[in-house]
Amino acid sequence: MSDRLHLTHLSSLTPQQEGQDVIRGLTQQPKSLPSYYFYDAAGSHLFEEICELPEYYPTRTELGILETAAGAIAQLTGACELVELGSGSDRKIRLLLSAYAQVQPHLYYRPIDVSSSILKTSAMALLADYPQLSIHGLVGTYEVGLEHLPPPLAPRRLLCFLGSTIGNLSARECPALFQQIHRVLKEGDYFLLGVDLIKDTSILLPAYNDAQGVTAAFNRNILYHLNWRFQGNFQPEAFAHRAIYNPIAQQIEMYLDSQQWQTVTLAALDFHCRFAAGEPILTEISRKFDLAALKEALTAAGFRWINAFTDPQQWFALCLCQV
Ligand SMILES: C[S@@+](CC[C@H](N)C(=O)[O-])C[C@H]1O[C@@H](n2cnc3c(N)ncnc32)[C@H](O)[C@@H]1O
Repeated sequence: MSDRLHLTHLSSLTPQQEGQDVIRGLTQQPKSLPSYYFYDAAGSHLFEEICELPEYYPTRTELGILETAAGAIAQLTGACELVELGSGSDRKIRLLLSAYAQVQPHLYYRPIDVSSSILKTSAMALLADYPQLSIHGLVGTYEVGLEHLPPPLAPRRLLCFLGSTIGNLSARECPALFQQIHRVLKEGDYFLLGVDLIKDTSILLPAYNDAQGVTAAFNRNILYHLNWRFQGNFQPEAFAHRAIYNPIAQQIEMYLDSQQWQTVTLAALDFHCRFAAGEPILTEISRKFDLAALKEALTAAGFRWINAFTDPQQWFALCLCQV
């Protein structure tokens, strides 16, 4: 099996640059943290638990769309190498791999994810079930992974970005990533983007404030991760989870509110940070999309819009477009 799995660990950072984004975020007002720091092994595991929660509709809704649309997508594009940004667990890509197995004898998959643990676990599970599959995983951020994509192994590429993870990027960062994706793909390649659509807050808010407190644990895990990565002394339990919907920006905002006055040190970064009682750290945004505006943004980046596959309630959409 191992000759079908290659993993490349990528980093564009020198040791001096590591963690500079943490310092930048914590010295801004209001304080913030880059959300990719959620995802160490524990964070990836907690995210998988979130996906199973009754309140967290996005995963099961997108899976439902994929179940009905994957076959049509594979027929439409023909043979492709599958590339996936922020791949996480293997549960969604399986549906696409099974559909592509109907149109090509060999399957090629290149997941890109900052979390090496989930990338490796998912890859092993996929290789066990798809004997015709080869995987080349790239461990790193989206931007760095995209720049290190080797030449494609199939006539075309289908680049997938699922789970509405694009919603974690700000309105400024999102067009830049669309442009980068457009630039690294070749003419004729495809882009499949999963997005969470604007909907009532009675559905949105419980998805980020679940009754069992799994989202709260996931949110606090960012501080545990910073502690082990940068020799920190955050007391994660001294921060409270809070998720709100910002109707102007049309986004969920997740915060950790300091429960007391406190000073935190990240020794490896030689960095100290003071928190007032009640002071928030913005840890994640999750933007909600309007399909017409999204179509405009993708077209502006140079893509040709093909189709949006949605669920009966129009809660989520899988948008297919082509370079
Ligand atoms: C919200 S989860 C979605 C996982 C999966 N695509 C799904 O739909 O269930 C986001 C995934 O992207 C990865 N990730 C987050 N930020 C990233 C970044 N800046 N670069 C690369 N991967 C990132 C995380 O490790 C995680 O596996």
